[in-house]
Amino acid sequence: MSITAEALETAAPPVTAITTRAAVCRGPGEPWEVTELELDPPGPNEIRVKVIAAGMCHSDDHIQKGDAPMRMPVVGGHEGAGIVDAVGPGVTRAKLGDHVVFSFIPACGKCRYCSTGHQNLCDAGKNAATGEFPDGTFRFHKDGEDFGGLCVLGTFSQYTVVSEYSVVPIPDDIPFEVACLVGCAVPTGWGTAVHAAGVRAGETVVIYGAGGVGSNAVQGASLAGAQRVVVVDPVEFKRTMALEHFGATHAFATAEEAHAFIVDATWGELADHAIITVSALHDEVIHNAINIVGKCGQVTITAVGNGWIEENPGMLIGFQRRIQGAIFGGCNPLFDVPRLLSMYKNGHLKLDELVTNTYRLETVNEGYQDMLDGKNIRGVVLLEH
Ligand SMILES: NC(=O)c1ccc[n+]([C@@H]2O[C@H](COP(=O)([O-])OP(=O)(O)OC[C@H]3O[C@@H](n4cnc5c(N)ncnc54)[C@H](O)[C@@H]3O)[C@@H](O)[C@H]2O)c1
Ligand SMILES: [Zn+2]
Ligand SMILES: [Zn+2]
Repeated sequence: MSITAEALETAAPPVTAITTRAAVCRGPGEPWEVTELELDPPGPNEIRVKVIAAGMCHSDDHIQKGDAPMRMPVVGGHEGAGIVDAVGPGVTRAKLGDHVVFSFIPACGKCRYCSTGHQNLCDAGKNAATGEFPDGTFRFHKDGEDFGGLCVLGTFSQYTVVSEYSVVPIPDDIPFEVACLVGCAVPTGWGTAVHAAGVRAGETVVIYGAGGVGSNAVQGASLAGAQRVVVVDPVEFKRTMALEHFGATHAFATAEEAHAFIVDATWGELADHAIITVSALHDEVIHNAINIVGKCGQVTITAVGNGWIEENPGMLIGFQRRIQGAIFGGCNPLFDVPRLLSMYKNGHLKLDELVTNTYRLETVNEGYQDMLDGKNIRGVVLLEH
C-alpha cells in the first residue's frame, strides 16, 4: 500500500527520548542535586508532561532525610502541573496540549477501590515507594543507572513520563502554580477534614499543624460548617495565615493552650475532631489529640513520621473515640481535583494565598530549608524551559 503525501503530512512525528533537567536525591540524607537525565518516550498508556510548576510537599523532605524509606536514586516531586507534550499508544485520559495536574496516587478507575469511591486507595498506587512502572522498568536514566520518580511521577523535572492514570485534565485558565498544589496539599488537607474526618456543621475541630496540608484542612473544616476551627502551630506566620485567610476561628502556639480553650469553650464536652497535619508525626501530638476529643470524637491522622499510638484502650472505649488514618484525604482525584478547582474559581477555596515563595530547580534545597524554618505555607518550583 502506498502512503499519500497528505497522510505523511498529518502523521504525528515519532516520539523519541529527550533529555531533561531534574532535582534528584541519590541516597537518604543526600541533598537535592540538579542533573541532566535521559527520559524515555511514553510507552502504551503513558503520557509525557512538560512540567510548569511543582509544589514542595513535606513528604519529599521525609524521603530525602530518610524518615520514609524509598528506592534511590529518585527524581523528587509529587505535586505538579503542566502540559501534555506527547502521548503513547492507547491513551484516552488526556490529549496533546491538555493542561493536567498530577495525582500523587494514580486512579485507574477500574479496580475494586476506584469503583467503590476510594480512588485514593487505587491498586495502581502500589509502586509509590519504588518509583518504578508496573512492568518493573523506569523512564529516567543516566549513565546506565535507572532513576525512579517520587510516587512514579518526579515533578522536579522539566519533563516527566507518567501513567495516564496519574493525570487529571484541568481547564486551561487555572494558573499552574496553584494548580500544582491540587495534586497533594489541597485535596489531602481538605479531604482530611471533609472526607476522612467527616466534619459537619456546628462541630468543633482542632487542627495540629497549619502548613501546606493543614491550611487546607482548616479550609475544609470551615467550609464544612464547623463552628470552631482551632489551629495549633508554633509558628506565628502559620497562625496568622490560618486566621486571616483560611477560616480558623482560634489559633494557639501550644497544645496546652488549645486544650484549656477547648475545655472552656465546649463547657467540658471537648472537641468533635482532632486532625493531625504536623511536619512529622510524634507520640505527644497523638496523645494530645486523643485527649482533646470528647465522646464519639475522632482523631484523624494524615501526618507521617515515627509517632506511635501509646494509649490505654480505655481512652478509646470509655468515650467511644475513634482513630482514623488518611491518605490523600480520602479523595477521589478524578472527582475532587476538578471540584476543588471549581471552588477556587468561584472564590470559595483560597489557593493563591497558599503559595508563599517560588524557587528554581537550583534552589530546591533552599526552598526546603525555608519550609523547615516556618517561612512557607507552600514553596513552589517553577520549571525553566
Ligand atoms: N497522608 C497523606 O496522604 C499525606 C499527604 C501529604 C503530606 N503528608 C504529611 O503531612 C504532614 C504535613 O505536610 P505539609 O506539607 O503540610 O508540611 P509543612 O511543613 O508545610 O507543615 C507542617 C506544619 O506543622 C507545624 N508543626 C510542627 N510541629 C508541630 C506541633 N508539635 N504542633 C503543631 N504544629 C506543628 C509546622 O510549624 C508547620 O506549619 C507531613 O508529615 C507530610 O509528610 C501526608
Ligand atoms: Zn504531598
Ligand atoms: Zn484503581
